Parts: sequence; structure tokens; C-alpha cells
Amino acid sequence: MDFGLTQQQQLFQEMVREFAEKEVAPRAAEVDEEACFPAETVRMMGKLGLMGVTIPEAYGGAGADTICYAIAVEEISRACASTGVIMSINNSLVCDSIHTFGAEEQKRRLLIPLARGEKLGCYCLSEPDAGSDAANLQLTARAEGNHFLLNGVKNFITNGQEANIAIVFATVDRQLKHKGISAFLVEKGTPGFGVLKVEKKLGIRGTSCCQLLFENCRVPRENLLGGIGEGFNIAMASLDGGRIGIAAQAVGIARAAYEAALGYAKGRVQFGQPIASFQAIQFMLADMATTIDAARLLAYRAAILRDQGIQYGLEASMAKLYASEVAMCVTTKAIQIYGGYGYITDYPVQRYFRDAKVTEIYEGTSEIQRLVIAGHLVG
Ligand code: CAA
Repeated sequence: MDFGLTQQQQLFQEMVREFAEKEVAPRAAEVDEEACFPAETVRMMGKLGLMGVTIPEAYGGAGADTICYAIAVEEISRACASTGVIMSINNSLVCDSIHTFGAEEQKRRLLIPLARGEKLGCYCLSEPDAGSDAANLQLTARAEGNHFLLNGVKNFITNGQEANIAIVFATVDRQLKHKGISAFLVEKGTPGFGVLKVEKKLGIRGTSCCQLLFENCRVPRENLLGGIGEGFNIAMASLDGGRIGIAAQAVGIARAAYEAALGYAKGRVQFGQPIASFQAIQFMLADMATTIDAARLLAYRAAILRDQGIQYGLEASMAKLYASEVAMCVTTKAIQIYGGYGYITDYPVQRYFRDAKVTEIYEGTSEIQRLVIAGHLVG
């Protein structure tokens, strides 16, 4: 395996890093404190091709590889984890799903504006009683002429308030369990589709996390994504890609915390010397740097396999599991290095800590990643 980035990937990284430092990082504290969606930043990311990194240019994307996608999510999340997940979901769970499973007409009509960042997507799988057990979802889809009528509730939908297009998983026949699940592209403004509740949360406060209500929501048959009964496989395949994104997001958050802690430790003097000269602090920094690099390499490995067209579900779950736990560990250590200053909101490490936690939960909890990994190992 070649561990170096190609010249094209390096140039892409420089471009995203410069954009993130100049445009995203300065707004991150406000986005967090005010819990405001960074609409202007998302518009700018669309212009840079960051809302559809791996989507071919013909469909409005940047036509780059999955390593570039991981690079972009890491750099943006290092600046602002809320902005990072907004772009990650639009890229992987939404654009990649339509690109892989959508009909040509759906790609022309819906993928192009999504990949350009002119529209935003959300991914609606979870429900009040179907989180980790996604196959148990209850939202129904009933065929009626050239339409499907959707009825039910979706839970914890990131970008649910701002999204123009939702990928909604619904069952056409509960008896069939996961084989009865189909995927639908529901456009904002469709009668019977609306936000029921916007949750208040611990971290990534610049994204909306919504409960969505579907009441006799009439979705035209041409908005069925894939075939009837193929929805669960679409959901699972999309999550494989999404988990690379969440791994990269976790690496970005951890890097932000590590870099802040390193800088602080070099400047903070106690007992007559910078605390970075104490081995207790040095050991923490050494562990932080090592585990961040290991997490990034796991994410890149999954990305390379995806680009080579090789099954990468196992590697994506390993990357997501490890990187999210690294993010929690590194952000905890960063607060410890800052001491009391780490616990107050004047400094950003408490935000990194709060933002890191969800990476162990969304797109499959750490326990689900272990289940997926063990399934591959044991069979
Ligand atoms: N790719 C394609 N198909 C897959 C697959 C994959 N990675 N994994 C499983 N499948 C298929 C299987 O092949 C099987 O299909 P067939 O019956 O046709 O053979 C089918 O799916 C069922 O597989 P399982 O029996 O393994 O399914 P299960 O019910 O036991 O569930 C699970 C497996 C791994 C626990 C799964 O339910 C899961 O991943 N749960 C977590 C859900 C999750 O990540 N939710 C996150 C919500 S999205 C989110 O967070 C978005 C947001 O807004 C941030």
C-alpha cells in the first residue's frame, strides 16, 4: 500500500485546508453557541465541489476519489464538526446512494443540484423504535396508482430541517422484514411531509436533528430509489460509505483537539517551565498523535478499497469504530491538558469533546460496528 498522497490529492488537501481555516473555522464557535445552520458556508462548499466530492462532473460533482472525500471531511471537521457532518451526509448517504442506485432520470433531476450544493439531502432510516435494529422500521409505503402513500415517523434526522430532498426508507410489507423495505426520494414541499420536532443536543449543534412526520405523503412512483424491496440493502451499502465519512470526521475533530492541546502545553508555564516539558503531558500528546495517525490510515484503507471496487464494509466499520473512540479519548485528554481552562467555553476543546461523542453513535453505534466486524470475522 502506498501511504503517500498523490500530487492531485495533496493539492486538493491544500485547497480544502485553506478554505476551512479561512471560511469555516472563524464561524465554528458561533455556529455551536447559536446552534445555527451554516448556510453560507454550505453554499461556498457547493461551489468548491465539496458537496459531491466523488460524484462525476457530469452529475455536478468534483469527480475526485474517496481519499479526497476523506481528506475533505477531515479538514472541514477539524474547523467545524457541524459543517463536516452536513457535507459528509450529503456526499455519502445521499449523493452516492442516488449515483449508485438511482435511475438516469433521478440523477439528472435530483443528483445534479445535490452534488452542486444547490440542494441539500438528508437520510431517513432511524425511527423512534428502530435505531440499531434498522430492519424493524415501521414507516409504511402503500402503493396507490402511480404514487406511494407514506405514513410514519423518522427520528434523529440530521439536516432534516434544511434538506430539500430526503431519502426515506419505508416498508411495503412488514411481514417481509428487511425484504419489504424500499427507498423513496421525497422532495421538500410534498404534501404530508414535515418537521415534527427539532432536538436540542450536546454537540454538532450547527446541524438540525429532527423528528419528521409523514402523513399520507404522496410520493410519485418515479421517486422510488432502486426496486421494491431493495431498500435495506441500499441503506446498508450507503452506510458503508458514510462510515468512512464519520471516521474522517472523528479524525478531524481529534486533530483539532490535539493541535490545540499541543499549542497550549508549549505555552502554559507551571512550576517554572512549560507543561509540555513534563513527561505526564508528553505521554498524553504521544498517544494522541499516534492514535490519530492510525485512525486516519484505517479510514484511507477503506477509501482505497472503495475506489478499487473491492468490498470495504469491514474496513469502513473498523475505521469508524476506531476513529470515533480515538476522538473521544483525544478530546478528553485535550481537556485534561488544558485543566480548568478546558472546562470553560472560552476555549474550543470543550466543543471538540461535545462534538466527538456523536461519532460513536450515529451511522451505527460502536456496538453495531463491533457486530458488523465480528460478523465478517466469524461469519
Ligand atoms: N451492504 C449491502 N447489503 C448488506 C450489507 C451491506 N453492508 N449489510 C447487510 N446487508 C444485507 C444482507 O446481505 C442481507 O440481505 P439478504 O437478505 O438479501 O441476503 C440483509 O442486508 C440483512 O442483513 P442482516 O441479516 O445482517 O441484517 P440485520 O437486521 O441483522 O442488521 C445491522 C444488521 C448491521 C445491525 C444493521 O441493522 C445496522 O447497520 N444497524 C445500524 C443502523 C445504523 O447505522 N443507523 C444509523 C442511522 S443513519 C444516521 O445516523 C444518519 C444521520 O442522520 C447521521
